[in-house]
Amino acid sequence: MRQSLNQRPEIRAIMCENRLRSHAFGREEHALGVPITSILTKLRFFVLRYLICITRSVSSLGHGVAISLLLACLTSRSPIMSLDLSTNFGGLVLRSPIMVAACPLTANVQNRIAMESAGVGAMVLPSLFEEQVVAWKAKHSGVVTPREQRVLDHAEGVTRNSAIPDAQTYLAMVNCASVQSSVPIIASLNGQTDGDWLDFAGELQEAGADAIEFSVHHRPLNQYDDPREIETEVADFARRIDASITVPLFLKLHREYTSVSHLARRLVSGCQGLVLFARDPEIDISLDDCSVQTSWQLSQSGFLSPMIRALMSVYGSCPSMPLVGSGGIGSSQDLIKVLLGGADAAMVCSAVYREGPDVIRKMLDGLTRFMEHNRIRTLNELQAKRPLEFSGEQDRMNMINGLQTRPEVIRARATHTHPMTPTWG
Ligand SMILES: Cc1cc2nc3c(=O)[nH]c(=O)nc-3n(C[C@H](O)[C@H](O)[C@H](O)COP(=O)(O)O)c2cc1C
Repeated sequence: MRQSLNQRPEIRAIMCENRLRSHAFGREEHALGVPITSILTKLRFFVLRYLICITRSVSSLGHGVAISLLLACLTSRSPIMSLDLSTNFGGLVLRSPIMVAACPLTANVQNRIAMESAGVGAMVLPSLFEEQVVAWKAKHSGVVTPREQRVLDHAEGVTRNSAIPDAQTYLAMVNCASVQSSVPIIASLNGQTDGDWLDFAGELQEAGADAIEFSVHHRPLNQYDDPREIETEVADFARRIDASITVPLFLKLHREYTSVSHLARRLVSGCQGLVLFARDPEIDISLDDCSVQTSWQLSQSGFLSPMIRALMSVYGSCPSMPLVGSGGIGSSQDLIKVLLGGADAAMVCSAVYREGPDVIRKMLDGLTRFMEHNRIRTLNELQAKRPLEFSGEQDRMNMINGLQTRPEVIRARATHTHPMTPTWG
């Protein structure tokens, strides 16, 4: 499968065109990408030099005072600290801890430019689905196994409305994005069956992806008898994909595993990082015809409790597993909490849909202010402040105290957070 990619004329043509275009993009990004901290540092340097000149020219002050002034300036609690927001997620060096999660926004070149200039650390392209890869494979090899034929039969029309109609277009997009971007581009696969189709990850790497994210989807769980089988299936996915690539592999997991920490430990040698968590569509039951309805909605910022709990648990029991938090992150407070909870970076999606790429800059500004206020210079220093996980006893005491809270206190809290909450009872 892999050798065929560069030989295909349509991909070669797109690759050449992109290489040419990348020079223009490279220059533009260089101009946009100068970190504000480095500008401030330079400004500060000139101000200091100017200060020394003035002080020296005032003979009555003398060198002693000039040096004192200089020292005072250097040691003062200045808001202009030189901060390092870079982080490492499973071998990918990111200039900032915000990644844009897989979604159609990253398929668009203008959006990618805007997100880069807002300071994003990496971007995940929207997923290519198993059904699309099986169709691609059938077209190129002409061989379709009975299982693949079933996948194709069910996929009729499913991907018709997709922003990326087929795997060929996806490869071209990966190539385009990776050549044009100065931040890592992560290709995303989404599927639910082990098989040859997973080797397509090698094609994505060859097209230029800096890493592969595999969004694990399971068939309805009632088909399984044993949670260990589910874990084994995930580990098999990872092993298979990992064998076809040399770039990092990240698994995007759903939250319903019996023990995410246990699974994380099994995956340490199979993948380079976990994204906690993927989201499912909302489901509802229609009262008109009693049918199940699904819809996909943007998440609200701030409902982070289950994710932070999982991050703390996985980080506590498996600290060598790189982690990214995802789901409901939309403010700098959310970002800081997720980093303190155990994540190396945070993924955002709904917030970018709602507020545009500028939300990335706002979140990074808030993180910078927090770090300056607390005299933290690097994300490693921030991570050193991670709270230890609750002990079992403390967790239980917190729960009991919470459940025993008097009604008037609960009502007061609810009115404070939601002013419209009725105060009945
Ligand atoms: C419109 C839209 C499209 C998405 N497409 C994908 C996708 O192709 N693959 C995937 O793994 N996740 C996809 N997601 C899920 C996001 O990557 C992310 O995991 C989820 O939205 C939670 O993050 P958020 O709360 O910041 O939105 C999509 C989300 C949205 C809103």
